[in-house]
Amino acid sequence: MDNTTQMKLGINIDHVAVLREARRVNDPDILNALYIACENGADQITIHLREDRRHIQDVDVKNILMHSKLPVNLECSIDKDILNIISDLKPHRVTLVPEKRQEVTTEGGLDVFAYSSEISYAIEQLHDSIIPVSLFVDPTIEAMDVSKELGAEMVELHTGSFANIFAMLNSNLSYSNHSIKELELPRYELQNKLEESLENISNAAIHAKKLGLEVAAGHGLNYHNVSYMMKINEITELNIGQSIIARSVFSGLAEAIKEMKRLTTR
Ligand code: PXP
Repeated sequence: MDNTTQMKLGINIDHVAVLREARRVNDPDILNALYIACENGADQITIHLREDRRHIQDVDVKNILMHSKLPVNLECSIDKDILNIISDLKPHRVTLVPEKRQEVTTEGGLDVFAYSSEISYAIEQLHDSIIPVSLFVDPTIEAMDVSKELGAEMVELHTGSFANIFAMLNSNLSYSNHSIKELELPRYELQNKLEESLENISNAAIHAKKLGLEVAAGHGLNYHNVSYMMKINEITELNIGQSIIARSVFSGLAEAIKEMKRLTTR
């Protein structure tokens, strides 16, 4: 019997809005990105309405929901104002993520232990609006257990730590201005850390599936490291943004998505 599971590819098109907001003009147009993603192999559109509105704006969410032929996975924090807006907009799913004002991108998963009552309240509010909820969490057994207890339908495993170690080991990152200081380690140590991080992701995915949670993964995934996620059968969705939009600068968005779809087809 073939036990392989399908993999859904969600494209984080927010990075197109990052470029747009850099000049505060409607170019590149996020709806062009939506159209190209829908036509070239994406299975889902993922966008993050941040509290500081640094890329996606409220009107983008409305337009994307109105024009998307694919399900829209809306990422947001547990901030009450944001949740009120999102409950009214009714995306196909909400992924709750942690947010800090100063961060460049989402660093680490939701602290489901410290903010359990706020998260539980947020899940209840979203469920009242018939919106299924995923929690963006670090890949630990405890986080899976708490996510289930809090009532989420799904978890998205934060792969940022894996991706950082992979990049320090296998790319030019350690020679660049963006080298990650705490990962400036001998190669054998990085190799051990990489294996440990993969084991954490795999164990968390297996445990989450046993609990009846759907399992996604995302953050820092790219054309070089995504094959590792493909080996974890319990992961059935990947949300990828930066690497696809970065490649699209050189190859065009359609080609960048098609190539990622090829790499993420089981
Ligand atoms: N999933 C979640 C929950 C995220 O917050 C992000 C970052 O926007 C991603 C996936 C995509 O990460 P990346 O842009 O590094 O591919």
